[in-house]
Amino acid sequence: MLVRLIYASRAKAPIAPDTVDAILASARKRNPEYGITGVLCYSDRIFVQVLEGGRDQVNRVYGQLMQDERHQDLILLGYEAIDERQYSSWTMGGIRLDKINRSLLLKYSISSELNPYLVSSCATVALLNELASTAAFTQRD
Ligand SMILES: Cc1cc2nc3c(=O)[nH]c(=O)nc-3n(C[C@H](O)[C@H](O)[C@H](O)COP(=O)(O)O)c2cc1C
Repeated sequence: MLVRLIYASRAKAPIAPDTVDAILASARKRNPEYGITGVLCYSDRIFVQVLEGGRDQVNRVYGQLMQDERHQDLILLGYEAIDERQYSSWTMGGIRLDKINRSLLLKYSISSELNPYLVSSCATVALLNELASTAAFTQRD
């Protein structure tokens, strides 16, 4: 069974480009092995990630993420069975939130900075859906 999981977290330290590059590189290496696809959105302090794949595989990666000391305060925003993937071409896409159109962020947030801790999980999920449909990704693989 295919599932989609969305969570947000706070980085323990400000997110430097090198940190994200390392996370994305290792995710892109590991995810194909487990049939995981998705996208990682980040600002200088916040991560929001979508993981799609088989239920056991997604649960396994989420279990590892919960132990990962690079971030904290994980909140589960969504978990559902899906018929099809939204991110089938992305072993793990990367989106820098400061590159996103301000008006798109304002559409779903109280300010032009994404803070999933201050808005409903529906609003964050809707923003991600809109990003997926406009393909606003900085990297594809
Ligand atoms: C924000 C963030 C996103 C991550 N995304 C993934 C991912 O998509 N796939 C993955 O296998 N590991 C991902 N990781 C790394 C895992 O948390 C973990 O470090 C990795 O699976 C290695 O675990 P292990 O060394 O215990 O086997 C991510 C880590 C962070 C901080």
